[in-house]
Amino acid sequence: MMIAIARTVAALREKVAGYHDAGETVALVPTMGALHEGHFSLVQAARTRADRVVVTLFVNPKQFNNPNDLAAYPRTEESDAAALGPLGVDVLFAPPVEEMYPDGFSTVVRVDGLSEGLCGAFRPGHFEGVATVVAKLFLQSRADVALFGEKDFQQLAIIRRMARDLDIGIEVVGCPTVREADGLALSSRNARLSKQARAQAPALARALHSAADAISVGAAIEPTIAKAREMVLAAGYSEVEYIELREAGSLAPVEVLEAPSRLLAAAWLDGVRLIDNVPVMPR
Ligand code: PAF
Repeated sequence: MMIAIARTVAALREKVAGYHDAGETVALVPTMGALHEGHFSLVQAARTRADRVVVTLFVNPKQFNNPNDLAAYPRTEESDAAALGPLGVDVLFAPPVEEMYPDGFSTVVRVDGLSEGLCGAFRPGHFEGVATVVAKLFLQSRADVALFGEKDFQQLAIIRRMARDLDIGIEVVGCPTVREADGLALSSRNARLSKQARAQAPALARALHSAADAISVGAAIEPTIAKAREMVLAAGYSEVEYIELREAGSLAPVEVLEAPSRLLAAAWLDGVRLIDNVPVMPR
């Protein structure tokens, strides 16, 4: 099935208004393209939650703190659009940069607290770029529900807070991380790993899962995290930016495991920054 592509906010709004006028609900799946099974699982979840599905594809320059990272980001619109058609996506919103950030654009959306620490400590300005573009996509589309992967767990918490704080009136839904058979979380960045690094990469997920299991049955948090860090480095990662246990809703640091929590990590392998996280439930 050919998918309709909207390049302007006006074209997107016309489509969505038509659906709403017909009494239909609309789900939004924001992406930066280079789509993989993780994105497709969001589309599938979107289809169960609304009558119509809009996918957005915009490589948002404001969320890249490193210009080389922005330049290297894969741009595969043609194959992305071809993959989305058979999944029943109604509209692909793929605006040019000037449509999203016309001359004179001056507004920044910043979510205090949740954006500090974890990835926020290592990627200055990243979450402001994310919150700004996602606020725009929510307001441009006027969708009823939006879906995001739990792999970007801090991002999801920030977007939930932003939508609530700004009374945008959209439901924000988190969907489980999709993994390769060997446990590696799916990411557009995995394609940049050499063959050897690809074989080493699942060590991050393995270390997180084994630390999460140990902590959930009472192991001391700090030494367990230190051991996980050693496992990741021993597997060939060059740097571990952080491995931290945070409360799942507030992202507050956890000293004693009493509530549903999340063990989150970012680490470098083969010049590629990978992130992952797993749930930790008190037993
Ligand atoms: O997770 C992503 O792909 C991006 O951060 C998002 C949410 C599409 C905003 O550009």
